[in-house]
Amino acid sequence: MAASAGTTTGWYPVARAIEVGARPLPVGAGGRAYVLVRLRPGAEVSAFPARCPHRLVPLSAATVVDGRLTCPSHGWQYDGEGRCVTIPSLGRDGTPPPRADLSVPWAVEERHGWVWLAPERTAVPTPPRPTVDTAPEPVPAPPAPDGPVLGNLDPALESAWHPVALSSELRPGGWLQVRLLGRTWTLRRTDRLEVDPPAYGVRERLGVVWLAPAEPRDVPLEFPEDGDRRFVSGRLLPQRSAGTAGVLADVLLDATHAPFVHARTSGAADHPEVPAYAVEAEPGGFRSVREEWFDDPTDPGVATGERPLRQRRRVTRVYRAPFQLLLRLESLDSGAATVLQFLLQPEDADSTRVYTRLLLSSGPGRPLPAPADVEQAVAFRQRVLDEDLALAAHLAGQGLPLAARDELHVHADRLGVALRRTLCDFALSAPREDRSAA
Ligand code: FES
Ligand SMILES: [Fe+2]
Repeated sequence: MAASAGTTTGWYPVARAIEVGARPLPVGAGGRAYVLVRLRPGAEVSAFPARCPHRLVPLSAATVVDGRLTCPSHGWQYDGEGRCVTIPSLGRDGTPPPRADLSVPWAVEERHGWVWLAPERTAVPTPPRPTVDTAPEPVPAPPAPDGPVLGNLDPALESAWHPVALSSELRPGGWLQVRLLGRTWTLRRTDRLEVDPPAYGVRERLGVVWLAPAEPRDVPLEFPEDGDRRFVSGRLLPQRSAGTAGVLADVLLDATHAPFVHARTSGAADHPEVPAYAVEAEPGGFRSVREEWFDDPTDPGVATGERPLRQRRRVTRVYRAPFQLLLRLESLDSGAATVLQFLLQPEDADSTRVYTRLLLSSGPGRPLPAPADVEQAVAFRQRVLDEDLALAAHLAGQGLPLAARDELHVHADRLGVALRRTLCDFALSAPREDRSAA
């Protein structure tokens, strides 16, 4: 007998068997969200919870690789019983922790053209015969994290400078309406900058207009290469994402997803292991420096055969709460450097604007990059950013979980852990009236 609503015992018809193939299919059983997939052509159906425990990425976006469900974000792999069998960042000899295993439903059966799930042990050994009323339930939303999450409308974000426009978007004598923290603000450029409704302040810095609704507590991120004559500057057009700014900051800082998320651009797909690295606390944020393998199709030396496509680089990641990031990428082979600055504007609950600037240097003793090189670098960075934004889109509108128990961190995730701690401190140090509004 099919289970009655409100319980999770018994059998639930969740999909027609013919609908289930190698692409994970989201279904619901007893109010719980699952995905169904066949891990080999013609094999029995396997069912998994809807999200990867690592960073809660929906497993509907997973693929099947070598008979295992493979998360698109960091390549964690699960066998048919939900056991996590591979965490690539741990290296070949790494053992996934038991908490990485997925808790799969008690039973999955294919009967009479339907797939049936029993989420929990049930006394009825087999699913019932379908009737004319047999229908799957709507797919429920996955459970929300137990602990606090930082969304784009968190009151603590009032007390910070936020980027709201490029300086070039606000012409002399002109005005512009922008969204920030769920509200519309009008910017005017007269002989100075004005904002309506009134805010703590509005200012320009690094070619961007910034707005602080309330007295800011953030520490500005320095951009030492700005104005350095050994660098030339480029800028991507601002992008909009349905990912929240916290999730985007996490994705843009990520030191371990390149072999999976950026496999088509810069990610060195066969170097997924992540040796231990340090994260140093700094006022208002942190910094981390490590060496990584990467592919550099924009290096002119690759085209001439002077250098291989696969190279080593030193990557410095600098973060300031809430949403300012700098990535300095220094090629150890060519000496060339790219400095990327990401600034995130939390517009609405499910909308974030992303500002990306880059500074390029060809390296000591070499001429400055030519305009065509800058154009090529901007186009390449756009492709890499598109890959990050596609990943963030899977988490559209979801806040960043701040409690460690809601995700599963491994040693490669030190940057992500530091990000969550810093944002947690930032939110907790919000003035009392901001917190009571939360
Ligand atoms: S492997 Fe799934 S979110 Fe990281
Ligand atoms: Fe990335």
